Parts: sequence; C-alpha cells; structure tokens
Amino acid sequence: MDRKKVTIAYLQQKKEEGQKITMMTAYDFPTASLVDQAGIDTTLVGDSLGMVMLGYESTVPVTMEEMIHHSRAVRRGTKYAFVIGDMPFMSYQVSLEQAIENAGRFMKEAGCDSVKLEGGTEMAHVVKAIVDAGIPVCGHIGLTPQTASKLSGFKVQGKDAESARELVKSAKDLEEAGAFMIVMECIPDLLAERITGELKIPTIGIGAGTDCDGQVLVYHDLVGLFERFTPKFVKQYINLSPKIREALVQFREEVEAGSFPGPEHSFAMKKEEAERI
Ligand code: KIV
Repeated sequence: MDRKKVTIAYLQQKKEEGQKITMMTAYDFPTASLVDQAGIDTTLVGDSLGMVMLGYESTVPVTMEEMIHHSRAVRRGTKYAFVIGDMPFMSYQVSLEQAIENAGRFMKEAGCDSVKLEGGTEMAHVVKAIVDAGIPVCGHIGLTPQTASKLSGFKVQGKDAESARELVKSAKDLEEAGAFMIVMECIPDLLAERITGELKIPTIGIGAGTDCDGQVLVYHDLVGLFERFTPKFVKQYINLSPKIREALVQFREEVEAGSFPGPEHSFAMKKEEAERI
C-alpha cells in the first residue's frame, strides 16, 4: 500500500469526500507502533494517560513533563499517523504566553504534529494565539474531563436547547479561531450531526453518535486494559486483561514448580568446559 504521512490537508479532504477519519489514543512506543500499523489516521497522546497509565483518579493531576515524556515515545513509534499532544490541565489557562510556550514544547521536544486543548468559546482566544504562533490546534468540546468538577461530574452535555446552542457556538468559535479539527465528547447524536454539518473542519466523536466525521476511543478501553469502569460509549473489541492475568499466573506457577525455564530456554555448555571452571 502506498502510504503517506497523514496531514491536516488529508484529514480535511477526508471530510469533504465523506470518508471517516480514525483516531486512537496511545501513550507508549509499542502501542503507537500498533496503532500506526493498523492504518489509523491520527494518534492522540491523550491526558487520559493519567488514568489508564499512571493510575490517577482523574486527568487533572497530569503534568507537562508526563505528557512530553509519553508523547516522545509515541512519536518514536509512529511513521504515518498524525500525532496530537493533549495539553494538560493548567498548561494553557494561565496566560497566552504560557499556552504558546507549552504548545511549543509538544512540537519541539516531543515532535508532535499538533496539540489539543479542552474548551469552547471561552478558550477560542487561546486557540487563536497558539495557531497564530504556527502550531495547529484540535479543539475539544462537550464533556471536557479536565473541568468535570465545574460541569458537576462526567455527564452528557448539550441535552437541552440552550446548552446545545452554546455548544454549536463553541464549535463555530473554535473553527473561526483557526482550529483544524474538533473532538466532541458525550453529546447527543443529533447535536453532533448538526455541528458536523455546520462546520467546514472535521469533527471527531467519542460518545457523540455516528454522524461525526470520525471517531476516537481510548486504547485501554478498546482492548480491555482499564478495568476501573467502562463508559457507555465504549466498544471493547478484545478483553486482554484476563488473558494477561492468566499468562502471569501461569508464569508464577511454572517458576514455583521448577518447570520454567525448560531446556529449550536454557544455554548449554560443553561438559569439559564446565569441569574447568
Ligand atoms: O485524553 C483523551 O484520551 C481524550 C479523548 C477521550 C478524546 O481527550
């Protein structure tokens, strides 16, 4: 297959031609390689890594250093996919200078192709400042986990006409500010369809129905590696945790019984040499 590096122009073309865009999270080298080999368009180094990789209760404690460290590993594992680094909570809210500087770190230190940040109309000026500095920005509206406390929990957003209208406005403001794509999380499918139809740039849904321009899932949810909880919008394609646990138990039992390693896993030495030791 003649594969080329995915670009913003290619993602835009996919929207215009009605072809679905794929996005998957990855946080390390082996996963990024698998995502890339699967032909997925965009790899998101999501701040969800705080929960699925680092064991935090939420994405709020995630730091820039953690995001850069994991983004660099993803970059090394990616040849074709468009890599998006997720700006962690409080890395872009304090000032425009701070936002541009941190977005720049994702590009310069981690080799990302763009950044993503959460927020709608209230964050449009930040998106504009980062884009004006030459860094592509993907927006994120609807359920924004970094501000879940302000939203009174992890709830579907835009269920009534007023809040739905605000989300339409947010999406348009982000597009106007220069965002090249927008993730929409946990909003009704009819609203996602409406926003997707009104925007020129692509929309990527997670819990936003089928009519978005593309879909994203958290890798650990898709392969069954995060057992704390599973949101309704997740489809688990394979359940790896029990299989891995089984393999680990088998290893422990074989070591304890002395049946591992066997001769096929060991290195031989000539008897004469052994005698000369
Ligand atoms: O951090 C993340 O993984 C995300 C996705 C859920 C879109 O923002």
